[in-house]
Amino acid sequence: MTEHTGLIDPFGRKIEYVRLSVTDRCNLRCFYCLPKQFKKFEEPEQWLSFEEIERVMGAFARLGVSRVRVTGGEPLVRKNLPYLASCLSKIPGIEDLSLSTNAVHLAKHARELWQAGVTRLNVSLDSLKPQRFKDITGGGNLSKVLDGIMQARKVGFAPIKINMVAMKDVNDDEFDGMVEFCIENGFTLRLIETMPVGDTGRSAIRHYLSLQQVQQQLAKRFNLVPSIMSGGGPARYMRVANSDLRIGFITPMSQHFCDTCNRVRLGVDGMLYLCLGQDHKYDLRHFLRQGVSDSELDAHVIKALSYKPQRHEFNEKPQQVIRFMSMTGG
Ligand code: GTP
Ligand code: 5AD
Ligand code: SF4
Repeated sequence: MTEHTGLIDPFGRKIEYVRLSVTDRCNLRCFYCLPKQFKKFEEPEQWLSFEEIERVMGAFARLGVSRVRVTGGEPLVRKNLPYLASCLSKIPGIEDLSLSTNAVHLAKHARELWQAGVTRLNVSLDSLKPQRFKDITGGGNLSKVLDGIMQARKVGFAPIKINMVAMKDVNDDEFDGMVEFCIENGFTLRLIETMPVGDTGRSAIRHYLSLQQVQQQLAKRFNLVPSIMSGGGPARYMRVANSDLRIGFITPMSQHFCDTCNRVRLGVDGMLYLCLGQDHKYDLRHFLRQGVSDSELDAHVIKALSYKPQRHEFNEKPQQVIRFMSMTGG
């Protein structure tokens, strides 16, 4: 086994979290994420196989990564995902296996995922109004999503974090309602600022809302006290006093968190993306399919890390073309 002192990027940040996209496809079309008619998805021969994914994640684990979050597109549209999850959870060194999903297919798969070793679940949910949910997601069925979340809770997932992109004139009248929904059901609420990722994200920026503002609005109704929460992501947490509810604020635009970035993203095609907001990347599939050894693969991962940029430039260069969010699942 390779000796390691952890993966450190050029800015001294320790990389211990990989977001693994298992597909760029999605069964929804959230207007801020994927264009309605989008068809240019990766073809199956471009996808990393489960064996290839395991090899790459094995390399990351040898180099000190302990957290893996499975994302998409929508990860549950990839066939046999619970089987992949069971392989990932057995990799020595991987201590935290989590999933980000839109929950449309969650009711069917929740138990298998739990048994496979996925312990943490984050679910996208921008509205509790059925017609509005349909409009935001390009046709999604809210009751299926709610069934999925409830089934997940029943089989044991805790915490379940609800991810809500906060958008002016779209869902800014639903924060109080979402807080109450999460208190009633024992979920964690996370609010996210809209980012100009891809043409879709850029066009959604007209709905951008600073979470500083939202937090002030919530503080008028709820007593918010600073808190912490399990997980490795960028959210800052507050707890609603006299309840178990924690609210996470994810503020890439108004208060970026790049100084403490701990992650990289692996695309379904084996492209390693070094930052959500930049195009720096490294093609690992090319080397995998050339038959590299494990130690050569480790060396490629270390080299890739040397390209990690310092931070996103969403505010300075909002016009910069970046891939659609569905390629890396946020
Ligand atoms: P935990 O481990 O539970 O803390 O997960 P997480 O918050 O890292 O994962 P999740 O998939 O729920 O991410 C929620 C949202 O946060 C994503 O959809 C992105 O919008 C945003 N986000 C996550 N990681 C980054 C990041 O590295 N940079 C930026 N700018 N945004 C991120
Ligand atoms: N800005 C902020 N969050 C986004 N997501 C997708 N596109 C954007 C965007 N432009 C979020 C989804 C989901 C996660 C996978 O990424 O709402 O919570
Ligand atoms: Fe890390 Fe880039 Fe996200 Fe900043 S925008 S936290 S550098 S991935």
